[in-house]
Order: sequence, then C-alpha cells, then structure tokens
Amino acid sequence: MAANNNHTGFDTICLHGGHSQESNRAHLTPIYASSTYVYDSAEQATALFTGQEKGYIYGRWGNPTITEAEEKIALLEAYSLTDKSGGPLKLKAILHASGMAAISTVLMGTLKAGDKIITHQSLYGGTHEIIERILPDFGITATIVDFHDLAQTAAMIAADASIKLMYIETPANPTLQCLDIEALSSLAKNHNLLVCVDNTFATPYLQQPFAFDVDFVVHSTTKFLNGHGTAVGGVLIGRDIALMSSKITKTHRLLGGNSNAFDAFLLTNGLRTLSLRMDRHCQNAEKVAAFLHAHEGVAQVNYLGLADHPDHVVAMRQMKHPGAMLSFELKGGLDAGVKFINSLKVCTHAVSLGTCDTLVSHPATTTHMGVPRDLRLQYGITDGLIRMSVGLENIDDILRDLDQAIQ
Ligand SMILES: Cc1ncc(COP(=O)(O)O)c(C=O)c1O
Repeated sequence: MAANNNHTGFDTICLHGGHSQESNRAHLTPIYASSTYVYDSAEQATALFTGQEKGYIYGRWGNPTITEAEEKIALLEAYSLTDKSGGPLKLKAILHASGMAAISTVLMGTLKAGDKIITHQSLYGGTHEIIERILPDFGITATIVDFHDLAQTAAMIAADASIKLMYIETPANPTLQCLDIEALSSLAKNHNLLVCVDNTFATPYLQQPFAFDVDFVVHSTTKFLNGHGTAVGGVLIGRDIALMSSKITKTHRLLGGNSNAFDAFLLTNGLRTLSLRMDRHCQNAEKVAAFLHAHEGVAQVNYLGLADHPDHVVAMRQMKHPGAMLSFELKGGLDAGVKFINSLKVCTHAVSLGTCDTLVSHPATTTHMGVPRDLRLQYGITDGLIRMSVGLENIDDILRDLDQAIQ
C-alpha cells in the first residue's frame, strides 16, 4: 500500500510520514530481513525489472523498512516548501550505510574527470579527505575558498569553467562556522553549478537548505536524525527526481553503500521524536552556552546563539534555532583540556554527536591529533578546545558536571 503522506505538521510527519500499512497490519513497519524478493511469474519479474511495475527486487536496491525512512526524511526536508510552480516541493531521498557513503554517491554521481568542486576549509574530516585524497585519483579536484568571502568565491567560480559543484557544510565542525546558504547558492546558480549542503548539525527541523534552491542535501543520520547513537547511517536527498531516479540511484546501487533494514528501523524510530528532542537539545545548549560564557575558567565559547559569534547574524536568519552544538576554549590549554575530560561524571567522553546524552570531545587529543599543531591552530582548533553535543539530561546536572570538571 502506498504511504499516506498528506500530513501538514512537522511533528506529524515525524510520526506518520512515509508510513504505509503493511499486509499483516503490524503497527510499525517491520525489519524486512530479506536479501531478495519473490516474483509471482516470469512476466512479473520482467515488469519489475523494466520498471513497469513498482516493487522490491533485491536488498541492495531497497526494502520497505528503508523506504519508510527515506520518504519520511524527504518529507521533512521539503516541509512547507514549494516548487517553482507553487506546488508542494517533492524530493527523493536515498538511504545509505553511512554519511560518507551518501557523500560518495553525490560526488561520484555528479562529477567526472576534469571537473572541480568548490568548497571550504572547515569540512568534516572524512569529507575533506575524500575530496583531497580519493577524488584526485579519478581526475576530480577541489578549489578551497573562504565561503565568508562572497566576492572572492564569485571571482573563483567565474574564472574556472571546470567548477561543477559547490559543497557547503553548515554549521561546521568544531568551531561552528555558519555559512550563508542563500548567498552562496545564488552565486553558484549564476554559473549553473550544482549545490550540495551537509545539513547534519542542523537537521531539517532547524534548517531547510532546499528553501535556497540547492540541489542536494546530505546527512550523517548517525547523529540527530537517529538521535540515540544506535546506528551509523547516511542519506542523500535530491530535488531533481529524474536525476535521483537515474544516475544517482545507479551510482548508489553500484557503489554498494546501501543501508539495511535494521538500521533503517532504528532511524525511523528515532525520527519519530526528532522535533521533541531538538527542542530540548536546543534549550539545554542555550543554557550551557550562557553558563560557559560567564565562567571564569573559560576563555571563549563558540555558539551560534551568542551575539559574539562571528556568524551569529547569518545563523539567526537561516536557522530556526542556533542548535545544540558548541565548542569552548579552556583557559589552561592542553593540560586543562585533558583534566576537564578526565573529571567528567555525567557527560559522556566520546566522538560523534546528536545522541540523547551529552557527548564531549577534546579534538587536540583525539580527532585532530594527527593534524600538525600550526595547521590545527590555523583552523581554530586550539589545545584547550572542547566540543560539546548538548544532550537531554536535566540542565542542572549538565551544568554542575561542567562546573566541577572546569574547577
Ligand atoms: C557533518 C558531518 N558530515 C558527515 C559525516 C560522516 O558521517 P558518517 O560518520 O555517518 O559516515 C560526519 C561524521 O561525523 C559529520 O559530522
């Protein structure tokens, strides 16, 4: 049965979007743990293979548990947006095994040897590496520019006809840079570039890049969309349904970065409470940022909701709320960072983000240990920088824990 997708409220889409009643009347879509699907006849098999009949064929190409998560995410990214003719915007989502698999599909599915990507420095490390270390072997290279400098970005695009894709991650890791999607997308569209936005930190609840004419959105669903830290996953969402259904689907299927029914089930379950969780994540983050800002042991707080963040104005215009991610600089440098991490009693010391509990990490001694110190400092990742994904605990418990760990 086709999904009933006539829901108007964001929360209702979180709960019901993409859901169709399966034949045994299970309330929730079951985990379809089947690698292949059975045909009624040779004729039906041909009809399925030629696309004359819609249906499932092989697990790498999708299954009903995966479809529900894909349709829900497409509806959430399109929520309340319209297409060029004024009708409801229709998007297509393809679930992947990880955020990196979704990113690989969009890059390999849209670019060919000789093409260039224009992007910025503060990308997630994995994205940076695939662009810098893997794609050049296939003849695809990158131009890195400061996307805050719109004039320079425009000049670089105008000067190089081989630039085909603009790749934006906002807000970005770990200094919480926020980039102006509307302005950048408009520059890109002047030269017919494709635009892809990594919306992982914001989720569609806080930011909808498709409002600004972009072509693709990617997420690491591992983070806020799943919300519980139970599965690694990714999703690629596209505006051009024909392109998504042809070249992009082909690339996804052939690269083999498909999701699976169990992870899709966990993702759908997490999405059911996305808006509720995000509200609480954001409320807590605002209080944590204010607390740290006033703390004498803290030299600097990077939170988009604080007026002293250089990108505060853009964030407040483009996002519904500045979000649940922040980073802060302890006064005592590396030693203070290590002591702080070792003293935490409530917050969890782990990389990743977007889980129900508060996650805290110290980039200088973990994720960015391999980056030469001078380069790390140039990126704003100082010795005492702590990154926080603020969770859903009682705020007093988070603040008390931070306070005693900073002391
Ligand atoms: C902003 C962002 N994009 C993409 C990724 C990659 O996602 P995954 O780890 O699910 O492959 C991450 C991972 O941390 C991320 O933070």
